[in-house]
Amino acid sequence: MAFCLPSLPFLVAACFFLVTPSSGKESTTNASFMVYIVYMGEKRHDDPAVVTASHHSLLSSLLGSKEDAAASMVYSYRHAFSGFAVRLTESQAKELQESPEVVSVKRSRTHRVHTSRSWDFLGLTQSKPPSGLLKDANYGDGVIIGVVDTGIWPESRSFSDEGHGPVPSRWKGKCKTGHAFGPSNCTRKIIGARWYVKGVDKEDLKGEYLSPRDLNGHGTHTASTAAGNFVEGASFRGRLGAGTARGGAPRARLAVYKACWGPGNCPEATVLKAIDDAIHDGVDVLSLSLGGEGHPSATIRAVARGINVVFSGGNDGPAPQTIENALPWVVTVAATTIDRSFATDITLGNKQILVGQSIYIGSQTDLTELVNGGSCDAETLKTINATKQLVLCYSPSTASSTLPRVDLPQVISNIKEAEASGLLYAQYSIDLLDFLYDCKAIPCVLIDYRIANVIVDYGTTSSTAEAKVSPTRNAIGSTVLSPKVAAFSSRGPSPVYPDLLKPDIAAPGVAILAAFQETYMFLSGTSMACPHVSGVVALLKAVHPDWSPAAIKSAIVTTASVTDGFGLTVEAEGVPRKIADPFDYGGGQIVPTRAADPGLVYDIDSKDYLDYLNCTLGVSDSCKTTKPLYFLNLPSIAIPELKTSLTVWRTVTNVGEVEAVYRADIQAPPGIDMNVEPSVLEFNATQRVHSFTVRFLARQRMQGSYRFGSLTWLDGGQHAVRIPIAARVVIQDLYF
Ligand SMILES: *[C@@H]1O[C@H](CO)[C@@H](O)[C@H](O)[C@H]1NC(C)=O
Ligand SMILES: *[C@@H]1O[C@H](CO)[C@@H](O)[C@H](O)[C@H]1NC(C)=O
Ligand SMILES: *[C@@H]1O[C@H](CO)[C@@H](O)[C@H](O)[C@H]1NC(C)=O
Ligand SMILES: *[C@@H]1O[C@H](CO)[C@@H](O)[C@H](O)[C@H]1NC(C)=O
Ligand SMILES: *[C@@H]1O[C@H](CO)[C@@H](O)[C@H](O)[C@H]1NC(C)=O
Repeated sequence: MAFCLPSLPFLVAACFFLVTPSSGKESTTNASFMVYIVYMGEKRHDDPAVVTASHHSLLSSLLGSKEDAAASMVYSYRHAFSGFAVRLTESQAKELQESPEVVSVKRSRTHRVHTSRSWDFLGLTQSKPPSGLLKDANYGDGVIIGVVDTGIWPESRSFSDEGHGPVPSRWKGKCKTGHAFGPSNCTRKIIGARWYVKGVDKEDLKGEYLSPRDLNGHGTHTASTAAGNFVEGASFRGRLGAGTARGGAPRARLAVYKACWGPGNCPEATVLKAIDDAIHDGVDVLSLSLGGEGHPSATIRAVARGINVVFSGGNDGPAPQTIENALPWVVTVAATTIDRSFATDITLGNKQILVGQSIYIGSQTDLTELVNGGSCDAETLKTINATKQLVLCYSPSTASSTLPRVDLPQVISNIKEAEASGLLYAQYSIDLLDFLYDCKAIPCVLIDYRIANVIVDYGTTSSTAEAKVSPTRNAIGSTVLSPKVAAFSSRGPSPVYPDLLKPDIAAPGVAILAAFQETYMFLSGTSMACPHVSGVVALLKAVHPDWSPAAIKSAIVTTASVTDGFGLTVEAEGVPRKIADPFDYGGGQIVPTRAADPGLVYDIDSKDYLDYLNCTLGVSDSCKTTKPLYFLNLPSIAIPELKTSLTVWRTVTNVGEVEAVYRADIQAPPGIDMNVEPSVLEFNATQRVHSFTVRFLARQRMQGSYRFGSLTWLDGGQHAVRIPIAARVVIQDLYF
């Protein structure tokens, strides 16, 4: 567990990702029995009862009796694929693996929801202006978003079904009631609710509602971000971020699948059952703000049924190769900041005013004595009397060896232990405001090194150094232009599939105001970015009901923005801060209105995905060919090993004006020649689809690193259909 720092919220997902299954979190309390997922291939029978019976008979023959089989069965999967979750010993699992009907037997691992913080509060956000798309899509009415998460708080004003039409007649879901969740909790808004408690660790069930009701708050937040109704006057404690709260598709319907419990632990066995049911129930969009590898055998089935599957990409950035849920058929979402500022004045005893960042909503403090706590580790703080003092923590000598987001929570705990009355935390600029929730009532202000220097100068030249802190000013809007890729947002390339460009898209995920039980709270994480995309997908489905999941994903990726409102390139937070590239944000920041009218789409028949599931992803051993993923018709190209030259194919379908001429605008990755053939595409009534080749040629024989480019089809009018490209020249196999 060397990598495992469970008390640090941003690292939790990495922890479960890195540990080996044998040392990982068990899905059962009895060590000799573990939950296994048994995969028996694609569904072979239309009658689910027949499929379930075959699971039971296979298990009975292994365990010797029907009773033992029934007792050890956890879930039977029928719609996503044929298989089941079962409690077995290791040797029983090995034996089962030998059975000819069984494709694979794998341990059920537990992943975490992708939020940075849960139930402690505060921050700032801005509600986006409703666009024409909202109206065109009738606010997403009739589209069903399935949310696999920690459940829902039905009393929240965000889930009012006011203005909603009847429940779509095609809906086949259920309202599974339970503890504090009655039949009246399902409405025209929350049209279905299910919960999955079998196979969940007993620890995670302490104090839980055995029902779809959300104890954690995460599921309520994500569901209201995707599909919350309009709520006037939502704010945090009436102080910050006041405005109208709403989800991306305010009239979309919600189907709730509670598969995550306690602090946000989501066993694979429960998540798979949730996806299995969601496919049966008839959701249009699946929104999953949780960690893992994307549940390939289930999500591919969902996509084959026309369901768009949207995942959060993880909170393990800014380190590269940390992206999770990186599968070709899902949308993997990165998180960006929004246009906000948390300006907070620090007034020194000499009346000089310095500005830092905080989320302090208390009243202005009195002039308080200032002490320099240096690195503010517990030892250092013991040597000074910090009681009732404002403590400056400023330690440039440790800056390169301590990550602020690892250091800051510890520092906050130390200064609270020392009973300080406030904290001035010096750091290089990075978004850390979420961590200040832990300060609760005392003011904690983030400052940069220059301001820290001014304070130190003042402290060394005056006999009594003092300062006071004013409440955070509510500053949002066009003066704080954004987005920036959040430091915590996980980065590509995918360690699992480097020939797949991930993440796909970025959306707001820092200090997002959304429902939290009966109030409104600010949370950050790719968990918050994911439902923004799910909401947009719902609107696009309402406007273009005939588009495939691949076409909708293409529309989102190819119309994304790589510049901010001033036309400047988007930055990615990190150490150091840099210009964002496709491994930070995929196609860029989502632009919903443009996605509704993309001009061209890179479409994919879901049968093509199945080829890759069988052959590249190795779920089945009945494989004929192995093709790299860059040959899939994805709206991106990632070539991890360009030896000398390589040609890939793409096909675009015109979904704009029938008569259109597009010209290729090529931004080749530096050091690589890129040719597109043909470079002019003419579309008319008979020619809606065009294929073209993209040839990459390494200009020098030199071991390279990843370089980025793009291919944009321009119609000379409003359409610019851009795909991101990442390529690396490799002439020999070396460790990079
Ligand atoms: C675990 O299961 C085995 C086999 O049923 C049983 O013998 C053992 O007592 C169980 N241990 C616990 C801690 O429940
Ligand atoms: C994938 O493999 C399964 C067997 O596991 C087979 O039934 C199916 O036809 C294969 N699909 C494709 C598209 O090759
Ligand atoms: C939800 O169900 C519970 C239990 O039946 C009930 O007490 C509560 O009032 C219901 N809430 C709504 C919004 O219907
Ligand atoms: C520390 O300072 C506080 C308030 O300034 C004072 O009450 C306390 O006695 C001091 N403690 C020590 C050990 O000096
Ligand atoms: C459409 O364009 C193709 C060539 O790109 C041409 O052969 C065909 O005749 C055109 N059809 C119409 C209806 O103009």
